[in-house]
Amino acid sequence: MCSIIGYYGIDTAAPILVKGLKRMEYRGYDSVGVATKSEDRINLKKGVGKVSEVNNTEQLDKLPGTIGIGHTRWATHGKVTDKNAHPHPSNSGRIAIVHNGIIENFSELKKILEKKNYTFKSETDSEVIANLLQMHYDEKSDVKESLIETLRDLKGHYAFVAMFEDGTLAAARFHEPLIIGVGKESYFLSSDVLGFIEQTDDAIYVDNGDFVLIDSAGLQICNFDGTPVKKQITKVSKEFADAYKGDYAHFTLKEISEQPDTIIKAGENTIEAIEQATDYIKHAKNVYITGSGTSYNAALVAKYLMSKYAKIKLEPIISSELPFSPDSIEPNSILIAISQSGESADVLEAVNIAKKSGAKIISIVNLLTSSLVQESSVVIGMNCGPEIGVAATKSFTSQLGIIYKVTEKICAGCIGVDFEKISALIAKILSSHSKIMEVAKQLKDVSDIYILGRGIHYPIASEAALKLKELTYIHAEGIPGGELKHGPLALMDSNVFVVIINPNDSTYNDTITSAREIKARGAKIIGISDKKSDVYDYWIEIPTIEESMFPIIEIIPIQLLAYYSALEKETDPDYPRNLAKSVTVK
Ligand code: AGP
Repeated sequence: MCSIIGYYGIDTAAPILVKGLKRMEYRGYDSVGVATKSEDRINLKKGVGKVSEVNNTEQLDKLPGTIGIGHTRWATHGKVTDKNAHPHPSNSGRIAIVHNGIIENFSELKKILEKKNYTFKSETDSEVIANLLQMHYDEKSDVKESLIETLRDLKGHYAFVAMFEDGTLAAARFHEPLIIGVGKESYFLSSDVLGFIEQTDDAIYVDNGDFVLIDSAGLQICNFDGTPVKKQITKVSKEFADAYKGDYAHFTLKEISEQPDTIIKAGENTIEAIEQATDYIKHAKNVYITGSGTSYNAALVAKYLMSKYAKIKLEPIISSELPFSPDSIEPNSILIAISQSGESADVLEAVNIAKKSGAKIISIVNLLTSSLVQESSVVIGMNCGPEIGVAATKSFTSQLGIIYKVTEKICAGCIGVDFEKISALIAKILSSHSKIMEVAKQLKDVSDIYILGRGIHYPIASEAALKLKELTYIHAEGIPGGELKHGPLALMDSNVFVVIINPNDSTYNDTITSAREIKARGAKIIGISDKKSDVYDYWIEIPTIEESMFPIIEIIPIQLLAYYSALEKETDPDYPRNLAKSVTVK
């Protein structure tokens, strides 16, 4: 996923665009560029690196003009190079575009354009948009007409902003987000409200299949055949303005630290939806649960909890696997879709497949304006505020919080969840960083980490491995404790570290035995437990709580461990290499 931005107003555009891009950098951050219009020409600068790095070398924010567009990229088509960075100019240099998404028929379009003597400077799919617009504009001499023709040609999913040399901004949305910010004497076009929240909290959410034109006559929104549509301005929730690091060194640390608060807020903005979801699940013939990455790990916790406490069988399916699953979703089923962003392409595809089988969708989602929300019958909000760090932290515990709340409702309070207590325990873990920082130092030169957990702790072991991979680039793998002797034991030697998730509950004795077997092979053991043991080389103490509640608190020290190990390894915890916050492409 990439971020796109456009500005049309009376102030100098470039510094506003650069600021907006910095705030949306979580969406993609391998290269960046800005183009502005001044004196009937388009100025364009771009380069490989983070916004601040490229801005330092290229002085993006010094470009003149009060109209402009900008982009941060997460490479899909073509390597990370200056040439592949956006904006892309058309051959004549009279139009420049920024694009987020994928143009599926770009090679056919490229061939057509090449036959007409258009040439291409980049390896991207996006550059065809600039030249298509140019071709149609040369024929029609009208921005709106050329946009409609271009949209007829494009296949795929996209949001783009095009700037014409007369200063008109033209943008379109098809299955990728596009939001208009409405200022006093200015307009913004952006992938995320964070792109303009410092300037205005008045926003218009562009519908799928609509385009936008902004010129001296003002703002026009039309559907793809050119029919004007009326849209309301909505006030953007103040919480979005909250996406600042404040005194924290990184967003990731800030977001980990917010969890005493966010665990309580989970689902609180959609209380009725929890009731409704409970009713749907109780009466469904089959219940499936899906997600990707961290959200899938939350789904695994849900399977365990629902089965043990609510006596309901959930079938977890990795979203990207559903299209290849031999067993289709049974008719009249429920699919619970978990997604922080609500924009993961794999999750949306899974939802689409399930809906075709007549399934009802319950979504657990943070971004209530996302595509997943539109597809769902019931929407439960994570309500944890913007999560900017690419590695999911607070959104994971919020997902767990909701899963516990729904399970608790179905089994009429049988778990006895006390979120105030959990919140206090999370705060307690967060206040004792020093031991975790010390352990993080030991991981600096380690090449393999294994994380062991049994029962409900196995999904947490998987999530721990994901966090360590993303933040430290160390190979990490979650292992169900009992599987150790079926293979992974062969990997254990003195070069390996093993994290044992081992609260003093029904899994304790078996897991301690596994730890001893590992230690006998020379590996170092990090125990995450409320009970000390001589088998641990390093003990990270967690508080004691009821067995069912451990998952929510035991992930916290591991998030911190991954974060501090990233600092030791001098990787960027907020923006891990090669990743993007939400994967809106397949
Ligand atoms: C988590 O740390 C990852 N960045 C990633 O696995 C993420 O959870 C996954 O891409 C799903 O995203 P979503 O919840 O926004 O759908």
